[in-house]
Amino acid sequence: MNYRNPTLLGIAASAILTVLVIAGSRNLEYFDPALFGYTIASIVALGAIVFRYALWLQRPATRAYFWRGLDLFFKRDRIGKNAASAAGTIATNLIEQRFISKRSFTRWAMHFLIMWGCILSALVTFPLVWGWVHFKLEGDRGYRAYLFGFSTVVLDGRSVLAWIQFHALDFTAVMVLAGCAIAIHRRLTDRGAIASQTFLLDFTPHMLLIAVSVSGLMLTASSLWFAGYMYSFISLSHQALVIMTLFYLPFGKLFHIVQRPASIGVELYQQRSREMEQAVCPRCGTMFSGQLWIDDLKKVVDQLGFDYRMGDGHTLQDYCPRCKRLLRGHAYASLAEKSEPVFYGDRMKMHDERFR
Ligand code: HEM
Ligand code: HEM
Repeated sequence: MNYRNPTLLGIAASAILTVLVIAGSRNLEYFDPALFGYTIASIVALGAIVFRYALWLQRPATRAYFWRGLDLFFKRDRIGKNAASAAGTIATNLIEQRFISKRSFTRWAMHFLIMWGCILSALVTFPLVWGWVHFKLEGDRGYRAYLFGFSTVVLDGRSVLAWIQFHALDFTAVMVLAGCAIAIHRRLTDRGAIASQTFLLDFTPHMLLIAVSVSGLMLTASSLWFAGYMYSFISLSHQALVIMTLFYLPFGKLFHIVQRPASIGVELYQQRSREMEQAVCPRCGTMFSGQLWIDDLKKVVDQLGFDYRMGDGHTLQDYCPRCKRLLRGHAYASLAEKSEPVFYGDRMKMHDERFR
């Protein structure tokens, strides 16, 4: 594993964000020093996420599919078509999350509420924290919003739209809480989930998200109904919980937020491989997958240290899925006839002798 490039990339990402914070807040003029903790934590967390992502990309399988996906995407004659199919994958898998709705509606609702609750919260909070957005009073009841220091629209402070904007984080907190409630209910009642889950991996993310959302809602309650009672303590708690969640991002289950979208490349590769030269199964003669896909798979399997060579000069990956299952079945059947342990290559040789 090479740590040098991931470390450099992580440091570069943190440095770029630092420059953007300084530039976007107009040389820190609109930066709120009370939010310094959030800013430092987000800069460090971004560096850690990029570091971990770069390490992950070094693994044989990820490396092969990631670079092949990019390579296929930027094929000059196909870039328009590829952009259209990538947009389709983004719409159905990333935005609509159709692959989760296939599991069940409640699982889809759970994830939709958590994901969009978090994305919308991030869209509201990060630009404010980094000083990229600030507001100035204009007239009796108007607020002018500034983005990156550039003037944008004036908002009527007493309009419905303004009320929704001021309470955006309260709505997103309720979304996250509802999603986490569904997830925890499933994890406490579903036998399959109970059998495989662990506290650290499967409950910590919900605990953190619930704590962040509840402490956020307590801020609203404190200022709206309790005349600011304990506000600064709750505010510090919210900050501490957000920082813990940000630092958990690169190392825990929530890393899938950045990991999963890479599947767009794999999907593109799957689509394109149907149009490529096809691999032919040496046993039944079926064309079952793109030859390039099979060659990449063989390289990955080889780099992982597995030896699937067979007696006939092929490797197991050369066979179509149906024949692979048959070969395996025959190998197991012949294994039962032998008393001493038989290794994979030998089992295949036995199969070959039998069925040639
Ligand atoms: C802000 C963004 C996101 C957040 C906060 C988030 C959060 C979560 C959480 C907390 C879980 C665990 C639920 C549980 O089973 O108890 C989960 C599961 C999952 N996430 Fe995400 N996620 C995000 C984005 C994504 C994206 C972009 C994808 C894929 C494109 C994705 C795919 C999945 C899948 C497949 C599961 C398993 C769902 C299931 O059990 O049916 N997530 N996510
Ligand atoms: C799941 C994600 C989050 C939820 C649901 C959430 C929720 C909330 C809520 C409901 C409030 C109170 C708003 C009000 O007073 O009307 C709040 C305040 C705040 N949040 Fe969050 N938040 C989240 C994540 C974040 C993140 C990632 C950051 C920083 C990067 C952040 C920074 C802040 C700040 C600076 C305040 C104002 C605190 C103060 O007045 O002291 N939040 N949040």
